[in-house]
Formats: sequence, C-alpha cells, structure tokens
Amino acid sequence: MKLSFALVLPLLLPLIRAQVPHWGPCPEPSVQAAFDLKQFMGRWYEIAKLPAQFEKGRCIESNFTLTTENSIRVVSSEILQGELRKIEGIGVTEDLKNPAKLGISYSYVLPYSPYWILATDYVNSALVYSCTEVLRLFHVDFAWILSRTRTLPDATIEDAKQIFTKNNIEVIRMVHTKQQGCDKTL
Ligand SMILES: *[C@@H]1O[C@H](CO)[C@@H](O)[C@H](O)[C@H]1NC(C)=O
Repeated sequence: MKLSFALVLPLLLPLIRAQVPHWGPCPEPSVQAAFDLKQFMGRWYEIAKLPAQFEKGRCIESNFTLTTENSIRVVSSEILQGELRKIEGIGVTEDLKNPAKLGISYSYVLPYSPYWILATDYVNSALVYSCTEVLRLFHVDFAWILSRTRTLPDATIEDAKQIFTKNNIEVIRMVHTKQQGCDKTL
C-alpha cells in the first residue's frame, strides 16, 4: 500500500515522538517458520514492550480470534488511570507465503501496520515486531514480548531480548508492563 507522505506523516508523528527514530531502513528480522495463525489465537498478555509510553497503562492484554482462514479480530485492553480501555482491530496475513507477517489496523482510516511474529511456541511466549520506514531515511519500530500468563521467567525474557538483538533490533529501552492487581475491580 502506497500512501502519500503528507498523509502518513501526521499519523507517524506521535510515534516518532514516543520513540527515538533509527537511521536507515527497517531491519529484516527472521520470522517464525511455518507460522500457524490458528494456534496463535486466544489471549496474550504484554510482558514488555518498546517503546516506553508516556501514559503507561497496566494489565495490557490482547485477545485474537480467527475471522477467516487468514484474517483475525483483535481486542486489546488496558487499565489506564483506573479505567478499563478497549480497542478493537483487524489483522490479515498480507502474503500467504509469509504467514508470520501480519498487518494489523486499529481503525479503518489507518493503514495496516506490520505485526510480525518473530518467534513463538504458541503456548508460552511470543515475540512480535513492527517497523515503519519513513522515506527509507529512518524507521520507527515497536517490539513486544507476549505471554500466555501474566508473568514470564526472567530467563525467557532475557532469551527474547537476545533474539531481538540478534536481529538488529535495539531493545535496551524495552520496559516491563505492569501485570499486577489486574483482577481487582477497578
Ligand atoms: C476472546 O474473544 C472471543 C470472541 O469474541 C470470546 O469468545 C472469548 O471469550 C474472548 N476471550 C477472552 C480471554 O477474553
């Protein structure tokens, strides 16, 4: 999808402000081989992410459901300032030859953003990466460590960070998402 720079820039500005842009095009990480979208469905908790946000929500989770063989619905939620907030998006496999490279859009006016599953065992953890280039001059990226439970062993988190790093993705600024006190009434 080609969109004019003038149209895309206002959408990117908030992202660029939240994140240090990196010079040059996006890295080309390897993704999960033979990715099975169906096994990826269900609930994932956000354990850590890049970049840090100014307004930090806690108890962030996403619930993925298959809508067709190659498209999904995603409902993400967080608790922010004592309120439960939900946002719904749609995702698609953009290229059937690359099933781990999804595109997700949270609004019909926004283009699909890359949502690449770099690695997952489907039952414990998943590493997700999203990178957007601006005129091939620089790129802004997002990375997430997801888990089927609200916590992951430190060793798993360390391994995850190493996988990102090996793929030329800088995760020094990755922050942990608070997953405590999530079951209390708001
Ligand atoms: C996820 O979404 C599906 C379909 O809307 C729903 O049936 C299911 O209960 C949800 N699961 C969680 C954990 O929210």
